Amino acid sequence: MEAATDTSASARRELYSSRRVAPSILSADFAALGSQVAEVMDAGARVIHVDVMDGHFVPPITIGPLIAAAIADQVHDAGGVVDVHMMIEQPERQIEEFAKAGADSISFHAEATPHANRTLHAIRELDCLAGLALNPGTPVEAVSELPGYADIFLCMTVNPGWGGQPFIPGSPDKVRRLRELVGEAAIEVDGGIDPGTAPSVAEAGAGLFVAGSAVFGADDPGAAYQAIAAAAGAE
Ligand code: DX5
Ligand code: ZN
Repeated sequence: MEAATDTSASARRELYSSRRVAPSILSADFAALGSQVAEVMDAGARVIHVDVMDGHFVPPITIGPLIAAAIADQVHDAGGVVDVHMMIEQPERQIEEFAKAGADSISFHAEATPHANRTLHAIRELDCLAGLALNPGTPVEAVSELPGYADIFLCMTVNPGWGGQPFIPGSPDKVRRLRELVGEAAIEVDGGIDPGTAPSVAEAGAGLFVAGSAVFGADDPGAAYQAIAAAAGAE
């Protein structure tokens, strides 16, 4: 029983090294969250992105471990992963709760703590993949001591806090410079991703493409997901 669980967890982790579009539930209809998740997973999505905001690191307050836990079984049963993106101060205080809620990966912001190395380590100790996120104004050199300590580097392609903002045009160049620093680690891009913007960051070296409003703001989220995946050259 234990071995079977381990195998499926490691199979799920393979998803992070493939090219994938990750629908962000931030833009979903929360009154119908289960069916919204089912819709994109039926269309092929396997990485479900969960945006956690605390009203301090960014102005809005969004969702916490309760919501991650509410979708985790459904996502795992369909062969997917729960990708938690914490936009919060003192992220080290919350990682255990998200791991318990069923997160497969937990990313936090480099700007939110002086203890990125320790926090990445703590996330891995909880058997989750560890991610480090960078705001648009943070230079890629902020990660120069951390390759090898993180599984995912998340490059914000808008300022964090809200869905539906326009993609920052310099982002592909930043992703290209980040790729040179981080070797084989996954690079995730987040914000303003749609069929028009995805190819430029894909070409620059991104592998995970978070899309919120372009998926759940569409009349047909499944079809919208597939259009972004095709543009990104993703599965
Ligand atoms: C923004 C969040 C994003 C958000 C992206 O701070 O981190 O994940 O859902 O939304 P879109 O795709 O609408 O830019
Ligand atoms: Zn996000």
